[in-house]
Amino acid sequence: MKVPVNWMLALSVASVFGCISREAIKREQYFVEGERLYGVYCANCHQANGEGMANLYPPLHFPGDKKRFIQIVKHGLEGEITVNGVSYNRPMPANPGLQELDIAEITTYVYNKWGKETSYTPIDTVKKTLRDFKQSDLR
Ligand code: HEC
Repeated sequence: MKVPVNWMLALSVASVFGCISREAIKREQYFVEGERLYGVYCANCHQANGEGMANLYPPLHFPGDKKRFIQIVKHGLEGEITVNGVSYNRPMPANPGLQELDIAEITTYVYNKWGKETSYTPIDTVKKTLRDFKQSDLR
């Protein structure tokens, strides 16, 4: 009797850890792919280290509201904004070609790299955010 009980315990422990590591693997995948996409779609302006450039391009070191972030990546941004005490006023182009998965990966990268997050942004979050788009999300 003892053996199967221990075996079942071992199995359930393994599946708990299995769950944790699946989450960690997904985060890692999104982060790595997000870093690549960031290099292609964002780094020209915001720079590879996310510091931005002078008063032309703001730094991405202060990721705030995620809905706003996702909407800006997809739809671009116009008008004056202030980031970390510096004002910027130059249009950021939209990225109509980025898919929901791409945006989820870029968001994961930025929020894990420069924000305080330690998990990934699911595609579903991006899907819902883009579906519920309001112009005011961009401000
Ligand atoms: C062609 C240059 C350019 C590219 C490429 C670009 N941006 Fe921007 N981004 C800007 C500019 C300029 C602003 C400031 C817009 C304004 O003044 O209204 C900005 C603003 C932002 C903001 C708002 C910052 C804040 O704290 O309010 C975020 C977030 C952002 N960009 C993320 C990204 C991401 C992520 C990518 C890649 C998918 C990207 N940008 C690609 C130029 C760019």
